[in-house]
Amino acid sequence: MLYRALLKPWLFRLDPERTHELALRWLERAQGSARLSGLIERLAGPARSDRRLEQELFGLHFKNPIGLAAGFDKNGRLIQILPRLGFGFLEVGTVTFHPQAGNPRPRLFRLPRQAALINRLGFNNEGAQRVAARLARLGRPPVPLGINLGKSRDVPLDEAPDDYLRSFRLLYQLGDYFVINVSSPNTPGLRRLQSAERLSRLLEALGAENQRLAGSAAAPKPLLLKIAPDLEPAELDQLLEVALAQGLAGIIATNTTIAREGLSAGESWPYGEGGLSGRPLAARSTAIIREIYRKTEGQLPIIGVGGIMSAADAWEKLRAGASLLQLYTGLIYRGPGLVSRIIRELSVKMQQAGYRQIKQISARVGQEEKQ
Ligand SMILES: Cc1cc2nc3c(=O)[nH]c(=O)nc-3n(C[C@H](O)[C@H](O)[C@H](O)COP(=O)(O)O)c2cc1C
Repeated sequence: MLYRALLKPWLFRLDPERTHELALRWLERAQGSARLSGLIERLAGPARSDRRLEQELFGLHFKNPIGLAAGFDKNGRLIQILPRLGFGFLEVGTVTFHPQAGNPRPRLFRLPRQAALINRLGFNNEGAQRVAARLARLGRPPVPLGINLGKSRDVPLDEAPDDYLRSFRLLYQLGDYFVINVSSPNTPGLRRLQSAERLSRLLEALGAENQRLAGSAAAPKPLLLKIAPDLEPAELDQLLEVALAQGLAGIIATNTTIAREGLSAGESWPYGEGGLSGRPLAARSTAIIREIYRKTEGQLPIIGVGGIMSAADAWEKLRAGASLLQLYTGLIYRGPGLVSRIIRELSVKMQQAGYRQIKQISARVGQEEKQ
């Protein structure tokens, strides 16, 4: 309420990237103060804890299925305050081995009528070494922490495995799960890592290193793959085959889209290239989640992301087969109270539908489809 009536109209008059930097700075300041952190939590609204929303997945405990998508906290500055908004897990990054400035500005655009964003940031981040030092300093957050890894822009595609490996080693002890991002549209050539051959090579290298770093005492870290919503059906098939063969813990579907469907020409053209997120992405990403669930017969956990702005959107993705969800653009349009609102409403929906566990949602849909 407060956000939409007061803060948003003011923030939306500023340049989108400056607004983001401002929000990061405010939240970082609040993180350092018990009083301000408490205030943020009260403003975000009471998060309900509900056994029905809890789950164990790839060896981690999630108190609710709503996570923060990669890109909001690229450098891991806010890992202690963001759980106060109600998030059940966080994902920081994308982190690359080399620090990089990203593409020239302007590179982030709002499309308010569509509740969408277009970005071509290009993995601006401080690099794995600095992010690792910060995460170590801030300490483990009270919810599972994912770290999203990408390829440094200046590293050729053929050397991508080594580049990912160097970041992975530096960050290994600090994350609960790792995401291999091969789907950002804003690093030239990156999406070609989604082809079966390159992907196998990359996942093999990371899988072997994962075993080595875990040693004999601990379980290897869950590795997930984040995919684009613009894959052809045959490409998705191949990718899933590789993911299953390599024993990945799950798939994150999806990243932003390079498509512009659902946008009027006037809204899409002035902004140039970039990845589209928010409401226009919702149906496309849900369709991919459904495809993955169907093709893998529910064997591969899916984190569903793309255009979640309400509990109804979240429910749709759970029904399509997602086990966990993430959001980013919804926070910009609906404000920091969105997470706890979705959780409260999901809780009610679960109760009304008579579900005791999240996985019953997609299982029921699967059964209905077979009948
Ligand atoms: C400004 C911005 C920056 C993003 N940066 C990243 C990133 O660094 N790595 C990544 O995997 N996804 C990134 N994403 C994609 C989001 O994680 C998410 O997959 C996508 O935006 C769809 O979700 P949404 O509609 O809830 O925003 C970014 C999205 C936005 C809007």
